[in-house]
Amino acid sequence: MGHVAAPTAVRFEHRTDEDPVLGIGTATPRLSWIVPAAAAAFVQEAYEVELARAGGAPEVVRVTGGEQVLVPWPAAPLTSRERVRVRVRVSGAGMRSDWSDPATVEAGLLRTEDWTAQFISPRELGGLGAPAPVLQSTFDLPDGVVKARLYATAHGLYTAWLNGQRVGDQLLAPGWTSYGHRLRYQSYDVTDLVRAGGNDLAVLLGNGWYRGRLGWNGRHAHYGDRLALLAQLEVTTPDGKALRLGTDDSWTARESGILADDLYDGQRTDLRPRTGERIDAVEVVDADLHRLVAPDGPPVRVTQTLPAVAVFASPSGATLVDFGQNLVGWVRLRARDQAPGHEVVVRHAEVLEHGELGVRPLRSAEATDSYLLAGAPLEVLEPSLTFHGFRYAEIRGLPDVRAEDVEAVVVGSDLRRTGWFHSSDPLLDRFHENVVWGMRGNFVDLPTDCPQRDERLGWTGDIQVFAPTASFLFDSAGFLSSWLADLAAEQRPDGSVPLVIPDVIESPLPAAAAWGDAATLVPWVLYQRTGDVGLLARQLPSMRAWVDYIAGLAGADRLWTGGYQLGDWLDPTAPHDAPFEAQADPDVVATAYLARSAEVVGRAAAVTGDADVAEKYARLAGEVRDAFAREYVTPGGRVLSDAPTVYALALEWALLPTDDQRHHAGDRLADLVRSSGFRTSTGFVGTPLIMDALTGSGHLDVADRLMRQTGCPSWLYAVTMGATTVWERWDAMLPDGQINPGQMTSFNHYALGAVADWLHRTFAGLAPAAPGYRELLVRPAPARSLTSASARHRTPYGDAEVSWQRSEGQLRLRVVVPVGATASVHLPGRPEPVRVGHGTHTWRTADPAAEDRPLPAQPTVRDVLDHEDTWRQVVAAAVETGVVSDEAEAAARLQVFLDAPSSRLVDALALKPPGLARGRRALHARLDHLLPP
Ligand code: BGC
Repeated sequence: MGHVAAPTAVRFEHRTDEDPVLGIGTATPRLSWIVPAAAAAFVQEAYEVELARAGGAPEVVRVTGGEQVLVPWPAAPLTSRERVRVRVRVSGAGMRSDWSDPATVEAGLLRTEDWTAQFISPRELGGLGAPAPVLQSTFDLPDGVVKARLYATAHGLYTAWLNGQRVGDQLLAPGWTSYGHRLRYQSYDVTDLVRAGGNDLAVLLGNGWYRGRLGWNGRHAHYGDRLALLAQLEVTTPDGKALRLGTDDSWTARESGILADDLYDGQRTDLRPRTGERIDAVEVVDADLHRLVAPDGPPVRVTQTLPAVAVFASPSGATLVDFGQNLVGWVRLRARDQAPGHEVVVRHAEVLEHGELGVRPLRSAEATDSYLLAGAPLEVLEPSLTFHGFRYAEIRGLPDVRAEDVEAVVVGSDLRRTGWFHSSDPLLDRFHENVVWGMRGNFVDLPTDCPQRDERLGWTGDIQVFAPTASFLFDSAGFLSSWLADLAAEQRPDGSVPLVIPDVIESPLPAAAAWGDAATLVPWVLYQRTGDVGLLARQLPSMRAWVDYIAGLAGADRLWTGGYQLGDWLDPTAPHDAPFEAQADPDVVATAYLARSAEVVGRAAAVTGDADVAEKYARLAGEVRDAFAREYVTPGGRVLSDAPTVYALALEWALLPTDDQRHHAGDRLADLVRSSGFRTSTGFVGTPLIMDALTGSGHLDVADRLMRQTGCPSWLYAVTMGATTVWERWDAMLPDGQINPGQMTSFNHYALGAVADWLHRTFAGLAPAAPGYRELLVRPAPARSLTSASARHRTPYGDAEVSWQRSEGQLRLRVVVPVGATASVHLPGRPEPVRVGHGTHTWRTADPAAEDRPLPAQPTVRDVLDHEDTWRQVVAAAVETGVVSDEAEAAARLQVFLDAPSSRLVDALALKPPGLARGRRALHARLDHLLPP
């Protein structure tokens, strides 16, 4: 008889907190667990949940079934504040596990009536432009309090101290949601902070997203011009009595030393003791408590600190600090022995230009923190009501800054890391690391485009393309489902979706393909990656509304044409001041998205059990696909505008009706990549798809060349330029070290990093074949340029891993399948996949790329491009003889000669209408021995 280990990681909804989970916002939290190990024969047939509630014997509920991810709450619903200790055990195939360790969940305030506190605001202090106010209350408590909770939120940011001790470790609370519809409150266990006798609760309020500057038009106070606090302290005394103390008009207000605070502009702090303090009264302000919601994801915290790697003087004499990593957070600085009132100023930038801080990309964001020192022997300077995106800082006002006195404090949503990738190529690994840092910097409570300039908004298109990567790297389910609730809340009555969520720019475009499609595609990704059917059901009305809206725009011919589109945004060939002028026709992009979104809505409805709706959208998707093929695809498989992005769309989203068309489209796509000299030519739309389109159409070698390209534009170009995050533009930093002249040049934008999903799923080979990775699809693409690659993911069922390694003509594959999941494994050279259950499996097969591919005897120009070694020599010779300036130019010249015999290659290279490039003869002399006559 085999053995099954006790379940671990018992979870409630998508909360990832260490035990206990406080303040959950639902009365019936779904449960998930992991079975860390089990005999091969184990299959879960039933599970038992033991629930221990206060004052009763534990209840055990037995449920028949194999589910272990997001199973329904099996007992009576929680009441507000109720705490339940849960244990799980599983059985099947004649085995039964021990009980898991207990996990505790405590409900938040589930009903509006639970709030006795009221929003309060200082009467006079804390107005716009005034120092940040502190709201304060003192109260007496009896001895021996057994339990104390603080529930709090604010209009603005808040930080609380109870008896001088910081409450919790959350930053920038309550975060940014669609405040008009949803305002998060936080729950804190403050049992250890209260004391018998007098207690003092003080709460600092900052401007944050509520009242600070948002968007590039200089506007602030988007949600209101008064900061306000809602706080409720609930205490249980030894005799079981509950005491409730809430914000009301008995509180007082005073000014803090924070003279100014803004997310974009930074914070100015006077550290000198306050004298002659003015105490202000507060008043209750009207606010709708029905908007209050508990968090779904983790809070923002300090996630790391990084030491300074260098302190140096700039050409102008400024003191600069390099942290070696572009990051999001702030600088913590130690100052010694300065006079009271002495000023220290810290400015930030992501890059240097001409050796000085490159602040132009920040646009109007000041990103400056300043301090007026108290004059103590040692003072630690750091802000708390702002954040910056930076790698470099300039420090003014401190002589002889020492590296050990400066550190960078990394701030972001404290997401649980769930995904890793490694390969034998250090550049590729650094690129992947840059994707991870890009995500960390842009997942600061909501998914943003960038973290540094006067923007930092929840751009829908950006997260639409990045969601698959995000869901692999970190547990993003709670974080993104919160944002999707905001999206649904802000979707307009006609179904259109604002460009940014929360919408503070009053999005001018009614509908932009790829951006609005976040409404359909982000929930679908989350369902694929987590198996959360509930989320899909919740979002379905929003998903349908979007598709109905764009189907309406398309009209009877099912082609979504006209109107202003962002299109394949930031195609590298687009002018730097017109990122929408992409090669891909915007109507082709829009219609492809309509087909894709309709398809996804149909499938989502099928999952949630609405067959009629499923059928309706599947039919719509079919009609759009037909229209697409009719209008944009030639019988031979050319797609309108003949750019890589349109082929990627057509191939990946099944928009080509016949095998023949698919075949030709794949070949055409590969040729376009060849003719770009294996450089990228896709923007936001094509970038997440092109690698799959190439691999899926049998062009892994071309995909590999594209991935490993280091010339500009390419993914690795930025890495060779020293990038430590993914850039907004392929050439945010130009090859000569100048910052791209475009007014939109962020060095920390995750969108183009979306290709990492391909690295995980296809290159390494770890993909979900069934929602939540209940079945793994293991189909690695062992590109010949690498000797190994691996991906590991903490799936909802537990750790899964795929790694491949080649040596001595053999390919070794190792696959780890968590208990509860299965895998279908595609081995090179075998037509049918192998199906395996949980456990660790290894295979050894002949390496399909073992043989060095020689150049064919009668090569075409295409063969020469494909033969990396020969091509490298051709390019080197063509550059040295002055026939072309670089690989990209060489490839472009050959575009129309790919089928020609290689004997024509030199003349083709030199053909520079109206004449021939100089250097042709020299090039012949250099290459004729290399290429067959
Ligand atoms: C943002 C983008 C966004 C785009 C669309 C930019 O300013 O940074 O990432 O998607 O605008 O217009």
